[in-house]
Amino acid sequence: MKPLLMGTNLKMYKTAAQTQDYLAALQTLTQDLRSDVTLFVIPSYPALERASNTVKDKAILLGAQNMHPEEQGQFTGEVSPLMLQELNLDIVEIGHSERRHVFHETDEQENRKVLSALDHGFTALLCVGETAEQKASGISDEVLAMQLKIGLSGVKPEQADHIWVAYEPVWAIGVNGVPASADYVRERHASIRRVLTQLFPALEIPVLYGGSVNPQNAEELIVQPNVDGLFTGRAAWEAEKFNALIRQVLPLWQRKQS
Ligand code: PGA
Repeated sequence: MKPLLMGTNLKMYKTAAQTQDYLAALQTLTQDLRSDVTLFVIPSYPALERASNTVKDKAILLGAQNMHPEEQGQFTGEVSPLMLQELNLDIVEIGHSERRHVFHETDEQENRKVLSALDHGFTALLCVGETAEQKASGISDEVLAMQLKIGLSGVKPEQADHIWVAYEPVWAIGVNGVPASADYVRERHASIRRVLTQLFPALEIPVLYGGSVNPQNAEELIVQPNVDGLFTGRAAWEAEKFNALIRQVLPLWQRKQS
């Protein structure tokens, strides 16, 4: 049975000390779930070192929220793959909606980061999602196909098993987000799956859903075909609540697999 993927991006929340407390609690609470759930947390850069000292035996996989594609250079304020390699991380998150829409990153930039992350041994978690305007224009699937085809361009088939995709509609994310309906998520995940199968026919790249996931909608989301896990923001930022959410969806995930 495939493990359920459950993760959270802490965004610009939690100091290093708060991240340490959170991870220590989450690690203890989820101890019995190791073989059933692949759990990951993506803290802020300054919290990464403490985070990796807190987590034992990869009980929780850790990731960075962003990465510059070059190993070093005149890029003030950026963090390189070599710097992240020293921190014992597994994942680099690339193209989160806030990177694309607040910091104006392009698909071509996300692509360079994906290729560099893979070359440096990380799992590249590529986030894709359409804006409210694109949805209203009926071009969601075209936008997703473009983000995937450009974002994953040049990925060697032998590296593609280190790709995860998160579908995060921009209009569904954050405090002002409107949760996506399960029907809408099913349709978009089917369309993402078609593109990924076209790109990498031999692989089943995991596709997570994210955007206002909460205890009210998590069950109907996880049972949808082609939803391999949930990528949660606010609803996962207290260890007890995240643990409860994981336990809420795990039986449904397991039933879907059987
Ligand atoms: P949210 O964040 O669950 O708080 O909407 C999701 C995300 O940005 O990944």
